[in-house]
Amino acid sequence: MSKGQSILNWIDERFPLSSTMKAHITEYYAPKNFNFWYFFGSLAMLVLVIQIVTGIFLTMNYKPDAATAFLSVEYIMRDVAGGWIIRYMHSTGASMFFVVVYLHMFRGLIYGSYKQPRELIWVFGTLIFLCLMAEAFMGYLLPWGQMSFWGAQVIVNLFGSIPVIGPDLSVWIRGDYVVSDATLNRFFALHVIAVPLVLLALVVAHLVALHEVGSNNPDGVEIKKNKDPKTGIPLDGIPFHPYYTVKDVLGVAVFLIVFSAIVFFMPEMGGYFLEHPNFDPADPLKTPPHIAPVWYFTPFYAILRAIPSFLGTQVWGVLGMGAAVVLIAFLPWLDKSPVKSIRYRGPKFKFMLVLFIIAFIGLGILGAMPTTSSRTVIAQVLSAVYFAFFLGMPIYTKNDVGSEPVPSRVTETNAKRQLRFLVLVAVTVVGAALFAMNV
Ligand code: HEM
Repeated sequence: MSKGQSILNWIDERFPLSSTMKAHITEYYAPKNFNFWYFFGSLAMLVLVIQIVTGIFLTMNYKPDAATAFLSVEYIMRDVAGGWIIRYMHSTGASMFFVVVYLHMFRGLIYGSYKQPRELIWVFGTLIFLCLMAEAFMGYLLPWGQMSFWGAQVIVNLFGSIPVIGPDLSVWIRGDYVVSDATLNRFFALHVIAVPLVLLALVVAHLVALHEVGSNNPDGVEIKKNKDPKTGIPLDGIPFHPYYTVKDVLGVAVFLIVFSAIVFFMPEMGGYFLEHPNFDPADPLKTPPHIAPVWYFTPFYAILRAIPSFLGTQVWGVLGMGAAVVLIAFLPWLDKSPVKSIRYRGPKFKFMLVLFIIAFIGLGILGAMPTTSSRTVIAQVLSAVYFAFFLGMPIYTKNDVGSEPVPSRVTETNAKRQLRFLVLVAVTVVGAALFAMNV
């Protein structure tokens, strides 16, 4: 027996290393027809790691104190060795987290990955999304710029519109009557430790649930229904390692090209990743002319602003915005379609999905702009479409099947897979070449 093998045996007698690796990596069978939409789960994990590592290094020089927070960020950017890249990686990572997670969620939507038996994967996912929003919101206060301050002021004030407990609740959240040093301190504590711990625990739960039932795929066919009678291995499954570890490396390479291009060449992203007013220190006496949240919150912010106050309270907007997020968790029970994947769905779902995409992007654009009366009307229409997509789902998905029946096995062919692989390699090589040439 080799030295390595005997060390492994020693560990295995005390810790389930080999069996865990087998069960979850080398002998974990995933459908063979994953396409590029399946990159975003592993990319979300990559961004999570980037955020945690860069966050730890930022914390070494950041000061959670209203008098010095802004200056400490300037100090990181100008004086700390490598500080600027750590900070830009963290600020770019925040936006890229949402890019990746929105695409990951969209994949779930088009392939019906939330449907039975994957409801809990989806529910954990929605909780992750909520945590991510809380994490981003609190992190945004830390640089203590004008937008940090006024954004937090506006959002925390929303809680004040809740009947009876609202005013006390917003004071409790802030720790003061206005956003202040006390708020900054507690947001720092929550941002660096409390929320990340919950986030990590939820990601573990998300993956445990995934490995219990196995992945869905672009055909929405359950691969566990067709197993080799001798080996018990799904006929349409391939081991996660080496097939998908190698495939995910390709996704990581493309992602890192895009990520580096942003970090090195356009970290502010035209004011979308780092908003211009945040280059001015927070001033409680000077309200910026236009307060808008960062782009990833704007669809929900637009819904908030679109709902008018009624019966003398603004709480309806707050409830509408909350409902817009919470409804996502209920998709597994709202969708009554007998098929999972969009490939085999009927025209009604496809039509509603197109409307939903238009509404979500439209609300995102409107939420970043100052309001006018016509924009408010458009936002109201789009909000109605957003809610109709979810609330009408039990009706329009019922019996809505396409002309092609769901196949019993996945439809992937070798030719299709090879073509896709070639396209992905070509994109990576061209991207890397352009990047290397500093285009
Ligand atoms: C930190 C954030 C997240 C991480 C690290 C993460 C990670 C992963 C990974 C690694 C997979 C397996 C690979 C893949 O299918 O792409 C996966 C699958 C899945 N995730 Fe996430 N996820 C996150 C957020 C979410 C969110 C917000 C949702 C939805 C609300 C979600 C819903 C799903 C679903 C439904 C699957 C199964 C997909 C299928 O089998 O087709 N995830 N996730």
